[in-house]
Amino acid sequence: MKITAVRTHLLEHRLEVPFESASMRFDRRAHVLVEIECSDGTVGWGECLGPARPNAAVVQAYAGWLIGQNPLETERLWATLYNALRDQGQRGLAVTALSGIDMALWDIKGKALGQPVSVLLGGRWRESVRAYATGSFKRDGVDRVEDNAQEMAQRRAEGFHACKIKIGFGVAEDLRVIRAVRAAIGTDMRLMIDANHGYTVTEAIQVGRAAADLDIDWFEEPVVPEQLSAYREVRAGQPIPVAGGETWHSRWGMWPAIESRAVDILQPDLAGCGGFSEAMKIATLASLHGVRVVPHVWGTGVHIAAALQFMAAMTPDPVRVNPVEPIMEFDRTHNPFRQAILQTPIEAVNGIVAIPSAPGLGIEINRDALAEYRMGDS
Ligand code: NI
Ligand code: CA
Repeated sequence: MKITAVRTHLLEHRLEVPFESASMRFDRRAHVLVEIECSDGTVGWGECLGPARPNAAVVQAYAGWLIGQNPLETERLWATLYNALRDQGQRGLAVTALSGIDMALWDIKGKALGQPVSVLLGGRWRESVRAYATGSFKRDGVDRVEDNAQEMAQRRAEGFHACKIKIGFGVAEDLRVIRAVRAAIGTDMRLMIDANHGYTVTEAIQVGRAAADLDIDWFEEPVVPEQLSAYREVRAGQPIPVAGGETWHSRWGMWPAIESRAVDILQPDLAGCGGFSEAMKIATLASLHGVRVVPHVWGTGVHIAAALQFMAAMTPDPVRVNPVEPIMEFDRTHNPFRQAILQTPIEAVNGIVAIPSAPGLGIEINRDALAEYRMGDS
């Protein structure tokens, strides 16, 4: 069995209503899938977090090191590709592109061995996970406070046990949003806040202190990801547990934050941190310092399926009668191809997502949808 082709699929949908996080404006949804084909006809799928075209270009740059290789040798291939761009890489696109490739190789390995990736990673601790709803971006032309409160009341009605809302736009308005959402969802639904690194240290501490009595489970990306000392200051200066890590890549990118206790909750992204091969190492590093791991997810059904396989295999820390279970980030913003690219969509039913048990990622790709949402030239 040899790798014979490495393909990328660029997908896009222009949004009727653009939306913003604190750090980014979205007028379209765009994602890139990686398809790796083998000499026996086996095909594996992966996805890269971040800008679609640049990721696709880096995937293609790696292709030369993959063609003709045995796809089951995931560790050797990971290290070979990482080393190929190491001197100018180490993080960012060099690792997000590698993540999509590693994901596809594990999909192939699972299909070749007739096992879901979760079993190959060590075993399935769980057959389902509770999902939390991510939404409440700032949408054009609507009152943010009212819009966010209504949206999260709807997520509660759909059965989600928890939701995460977007802040980082301004301290006073953000606090109005958090209070309005808490009032709308009641006291028994879990609530997290995500600043998308929009705050200064002072603002983040101000918000964390003011929102502390609203029962917030975590405060995500309060400050820019490069400022670990600022992270530690926010963690020490206000009582809400601090989360972060979706933009930190590889074991080397994660370790300083783990070792210095910059976060309470680490959020590696399977499509960004280096794929399954690296996520397992990162989880091990987190366990050395008792840092909770909750994967970040922002992508299509391929990314969702990969996160689910990883989460199935996450060893509880500590192992106990009632362990702290991982929860699955479930993006609820508009993206018509997110599930359309799967033959069988992965949905939350009463806030619970079943983890596929078929070989590999456990999914089948709908190629008609790949054609329907193919990215244009502009
Ligand atoms: Ni649309
Ligand atoms: Ca986030």
